[in-house]
Amino acid sequence: MTTNLYFVGGGNMAEAIIAAVASRRTGFPIGTIHVEDVRPERVSLLAEKYGVLPAGPVDRPDAGIVVIAVRPQDDLVGVGRSVAERFGADTVVVSIVAGYTIKQLEQVLGADRPIVRIIPNTLTTTDYGYSGVALGAHATQESVEGFLSTFGKTLYVDESLIDVITGFYPPNIVYHFVDALIDAGVLAGLPRDIATKIAIDNIVGGINLLTSEDVLPQVLLHRNNSPAGVGINLQYELERGGFAAVIHTAVLRAVARTTELGRGE
Ligand SMILES: NC(=O)c1ccc[n+]([C@@H]2O[C@H](COP(=O)([O-])OP(=O)(O)OC[C@H]3O[C@@H](n4cnc5c(N)ncnc54)[C@H](OP(=O)(O)O)[C@@H]3O)[C@@H](O)[C@H]2O)c1
Repeated sequence: MTTNLYFVGGGNMAEAIIAAVASRRTGFPIGTIHVEDVRPERVSLLAEKYGVLPAGPVDRPDAGIVVIAVRPQDDLVGVGRSVAERFGADTVVVSIVAGYTIKQLEQVLGADRPIVRIIPNTLTTTDYGYSGVALGAHATQESVEGFLSTFGKTLYVDESLIDVITGFYPPNIVYHFVDALIDAGVLAGLPRDIATKIAIDNIVGGINLLTSEDVLPQVLLHRNNSPAGVGINLQYELERGGFAAVIHTAVLRAVARTTELGRGE
């Protein structure tokens, strides 16, 4: 079977995946990747920038993997029917659409088709970040791992956990945290450029320490928090302000929103 890739939807996430595939030596030569999008300017841009091949809704190129990369609110039934008509029964369909289930995909693509649902992480070119993957009844890990591993690490899970992985969205939480921390430094009197430099470097260093010592955050907090010291006073204010509770409820809301989107709400 050919390993050619075909993207339906050439938006931001498709571009991030294509950029990652293009930046690595993979089994997917960029000149064999087709992209179709309702906006011709997106297809032209991706063709110019990465060398992918422009395609349209009547094209039927040989493809081992078709990636559905439109939004949950787009015409997914139309896209699914069009894919089912144009691509052979062995072509694996990989959907990155948040909230749209394998059962919903089977209803339009056919229940015998190999279907894979993935929530790609957005750190596609960094070598960090887990993508959550759920396999349909006829899909195998071997058929997609070569492709999925080109844009990050993969975690194969039961489909019931896919919405949780989507809403549990660490990059954004980290960006919010860094942003708030920089402002806190400015509030306390640091120039913004110095606050930014210190905040980002200390966060990267803190994570490096956690991973190199292979310990839980509590271990380092207990080590750093001396009696009546600066660290434990900082922790006291964070707890009084509901720091952990805000993160918990924000993640629960994001998970709920993922499920709503899948229901078309
Ligand atoms: N961005 C992320 O961080 C992220 C992370 C994980 C998963 N996802 C999932 O990835 C998917 C794509 O997200 P995105 O951020 O890349 O969205 P996006 O930038 O809006 O890309 C979607 C593209 O698909 C096009 N399109 C709509 N209907 C189409 C059709 N019938 N046939 C062909 N193309 C069509 C859209 O054109 P128009 O704009 O003209 O409609 C748009 O160019 C979503 O389902 C999202 O849930 C995104």
